[in-house]
Amino acid sequence: MTTSGPPAQIDPAAKGNPLLEEAGRRRTFAIISHPDAGKTTITEKLLLYGQALNEAGSVQGRQKRKATTSDWMDLEQRRGISVSSTVLRFEHAGTVINLLDTPGHSDFSEDTLRVMSAVDSAVILIDAAKGIEAQTLRLFEVARSRGIPLITFINKCDRPGIEPLELLDHIESTLDLLPTALTWPVGEPGDLKGIVDLREKNFHEFERSAPGGLAVASETIIDLESAPDGEAAWNTATEELSLLEAAGHEFDPGAVAEGISTPVLFGSALTNFGVELLLDTVIELAPPPSPRIDITDTPRPLESEFSGLVFKVQANMDPRHRDRNAFIRICSGKFDRGMKVVNARTGRPLTLNYASGTFGRQRETIEEAYPGDIVGVVGAADLQVGDTVFQGQELRYPPLPTLAPEQFIRVRNADARKHKQFTRALDQLAEEGVIHVLTQDGGRDPMPILGGVGRLQFEVATERMETEFNVQVKVDETDWKLARRTDEESAQEMREGRLAELRTRSDGVVFALFTSQFQHDRLVRDKPHLTLDHMV
Ligand code: G4P
Repeated sequence: MTTSGPPAQIDPAAKGNPLLEEAGRRRTFAIISHPDAGKTTITEKLLLYGQALNEAGSVQGRQKRKATTSDWMDLEQRRGISVSSTVLRFEHAGTVINLLDTPGHSDFSEDTLRVMSAVDSAVILIDAAKGIEAQTLRLFEVARSRGIPLITFINKCDRPGIEPLELLDHIESTLDLLPTALTWPVGEPGDLKGIVDLREKNFHEFERSAPGGLAVASETIIDLESAPDGEAAWNTATEELSLLEAAGHEFDPGAVAEGISTPVLFGSALTNFGVELLLDTVIELAPPPSPRIDITDTPRPLESEFSGLVFKVQANMDPRHRDRNAFIRICSGKFDRGMKVVNARTGRPLTLNYASGTFGRQRETIEEAYPGDIVGVVGAADLQVGDTVFQGQELRYPPLPTLAPEQFIRVRNADARKHKQFTRALDQLAEEGVIHVLTQDGGRDPMPILGGVGRLQFEVATERMETEFNVQVKVDETDWKLARRTDEESAQEMREGRLAELRTRSDGVVFALFTSQFQHDRLVRDKPHLTLDHMV
């Protein structure tokens, strides 16, 4: 078994243009999964096969290993959840992989949505024993809404799980995506014999004794012709495969590129089985960066002057000193450290000096980067989520989508002397997109409403207000159940007719708040001309 994998296919038209060649060998993707499906494990294993982790890593305890790939905040560690996204970058067989982590919990779907704006494809990771779990469906829907290619990896095939045909049916019915198997497991769930690579027509034998730690497992690959026959497991797999063939679920790269079909691979991250095939599939099927559409609907060619999109801002990642990291997805041109760019929102110039790539907690300084890469700019006080930075002719990318809040609390400052810290903390959290801060007429409101899609967002917000800004807050529950984005004209009518409660978000977007779905539906029915949008 080789560990080099196939090199990324570079578009022949890019040959001879160094920037397009560099962009062409980038694969920028995220892994989306339910907590516990094995995202941390597979991330480690992808790094291992990408040879970004050496075997010395295997002596670390699991907790420590976990810390290398995520878990920046105490809260994450205490709750065992991943709140903040990490960007990992490594090179494999001439391909530069940018792997963006996403929080597993659906309460942080908005973070996932932002990450989706920065990637060109995503891997959906599913636990073979659980299928797509209700709480995670939302995360997958968010990924699907972007229309980017999705590759599915069914993990934990080394132990009892749902029958593979059933899993495919399940993916098709819940995600409305046509699954096409690229590999197929042989053996009863829990008694895996190996997987058939349906395209290479060979069989990868599963070795239960394979090292589960951080060592590359070499898989025994047998030609399908000489694979053992007669065994019950083989008979079942052959039957299943002929059923699949009859159903016409054939692999169609065009349908994958359009985001209507998902290739499916089976494996086991813990035992390093099928991971290399996944990495090879990402390199082969995940697309390289393509021109991004700007606010005037014009695609920005990759080779034009530098432009980037801020998709994430994270403050105070390092508790030892206050900092503010803005993560920029490079959309066009070459990035050189120290370059001067303009922030399209403010029109102000800024110098991208302290740019870093991230490997878990460790940062390394990045001197240059290309479309598809992510750079973390340290200390960028001027940058907010959704900002466009550019060189040359003025340019702006469309604002990042957000989800309408569904949960609301009211916060009060418990200590009047800390008024400044209270407002600074709220401004900071709003700029990072941690929560929506909704106030009366957008002004300074002593009791603003915080909106989000999940309660954990509030926990993160109040915890950070206390630990980073030293403000104690009092939290009150509210009766609001849903919010819809509206415009000034509709807001005026609703205000005058007392049809809904109006609040303004820190970026000026106006929301109508409702105490029940019924109240909202009745208003939509009675006043269909009002603007009430779900995506905001
Ligand atoms: P997450 O980041 O998605 O939350 O999942 P994580 O990788 O932490 O994996 C969750 C649990 O599932 C871990 O077990 C991990 O070892 C296990 N796991 C991951 N991939 C596989 C697989 O392919 N097969 C099997 N059988 N298990 C797998 P744990 O008991 O929670 O942690 P630990 O005791 O292993 O540290």
